Amino acid sequence: MMMTMTTTDPYPTARLEDGDVRVLLLENIHTDGADFLRGKGFQVETRDGALGEDDLIEAIQGVHLLGIRSTTYITEKVLAAAPDLIAIGAFCIGTNQIDLAATTRQGIAVFNAPYSNTRSVVELAIAEIISLARRLHEKSTDMHAGVWNKSAAGSHEIRGRTLGIIGYGNIGSQLSVIAEALGLSVVFYDIDDKLALGNAKRCSTLEELLAVSDVVTLHVDGRPGNAGLFGADEMAQMKPRSLFLNLSRGIAVDTAALRENLESGHIAGAAVDVFPIEPKRQGDPFDSDLRGLKNVILTPHVGGSTEEAQQDIGRFVASKLRSYASYGGTSLSVNMPEINLAADASKHRLALVHRNAPGVLARINGLLGECGVNIEAQSLSTRGEIGYVLTDVLDEVGDDVLRELASLPETVRLRQLS
Ligand SMILES: NC(=O)c1ccc[n+]([C@@H]2O[C@H](COP(=O)([O-])OP(=O)(O)OC[C@H]3O[C@@H](n4cnc5c(N)ncnc54)[C@H](O)[C@@H]3O)[C@@H](O)[C@H]2O)c1
Repeated sequence: MMMTMTTTDPYPTARLEDGDVRVLLLENIHTDGADFLRGKGFQVETRDGALGEDDLIEAIQGVHLLGIRSTTYITEKVLAAAPDLIAIGAFCIGTNQIDLAATTRQGIAVFNAPYSNTRSVVELAIAEIISLARRLHEKSTDMHAGVWNKSAAGSHEIRGRTLGIIGYGNIGSQLSVIAEALGLSVVFYDIDDKLALGNAKRCSTLEELLAVSDVVTLHVDGRPGNAGLFGADEMAQMKPRSLFLNLSRGIAVDTAALRENLESGHIAGAAVDVFPIEPKRQGDPFDSDLRGLKNVILTPHVGGSTEEAQQDIGRFVASKLRSYASYGGTSLSVNMPEINLAADASKHRLALVHRNAPGVLARINGLLGECGVNIEAQSLSTRGEIGYVLTDVLDEVGDDVLRELASLPETVRLRQLS
């Protein structure tokens, strides 16, 4: 596909073939991402590490699609110096490293990979539930210390036990299905009305879940209200000798209260992958109330860290970037209104990001009508202060019409894809 690009203003100043689209992928993104984009004809440059602000500004000149992971920071200054940039792919889950408000203001689409590591987290949770029930970590630690402690005391099968899942989203619901297949009974609590999968039973309160669960596992999101969600009061309501897992958000759990409950034996074991304060860099020291306790598995936020997840992220985000560059598709975009209008090779497509104001669509269509441009298909979506409209037309739209569209006061960014 050909696309018309913006530079310093919303009016397109250059026409690019797919083969002219420049992509910069930083931070060792899985090679499947680069391979996919090269396969679509894009020019792809890859670099291993993250870049600081000044180096990034230099590297990003002339780049249309940028791929990063979690340690490249996309600031307003970077965005202001990147007039050719149309989309950013965060090849990870989080997007805190990106100034999303600034990207939206400039009509730059952001994509991430919200589901690529769901299965990895679920598998770790399953492994940990069995490991805690069998006290595997403790037994292995003893063996490494030369201690032979062959005893069944405190070791249990998980079959027939009740798993309580707090947060029944992507991870919680997939865990539910696999846990049932292993013979656990599943109950869950979610603040939203979620469909119960398999034989899982919904609890209408957290208290109800805590009263019946042998294993309690947290899979809530990071909304501000979830800070301190699980503390001494909630732990006191858990069944004696139950197990606890947190692979969701460190701030959700009071780790000092968890330590007290583990030391008293009220909670028989815990697996924790996320912490209120985590080291920033590889090799930085780690500290927690939970260090040095028996039957406690601590992992360095690796729930979603598998090679399979990285590969999936590479492919998933690369396909989103390609779809946006070539067809204007914004499905699952973090910041843009969602539109997924099927591409039709016989049509030309106008992709217009605009401020969400009354009457914009009427003005766009009125202008196209006055210029004799017939609309074959159209889709509009809005999200907060921004709107996005894809318009398919039969013949390529001339520069004079594009100029008129670009000069509408609401236009943020305009591309013609053909
Ligand atoms: N350990 C890791 O490496 C790793 C990897 C991926 C995701 N995560 C984390 O796991 C968590 C779940 O991820 P997901 O993809 O399933 O998210 P999701 O958004 O699909 O699901 C979260 C669910 O929690 C529910 N929820 C929010 N607050 C709640 C509360 N106070 N009580 C009950 N339910 C509540 C929501 O309604 C939603 O259904 C997130 O915090 C995510 O950041 C961790």
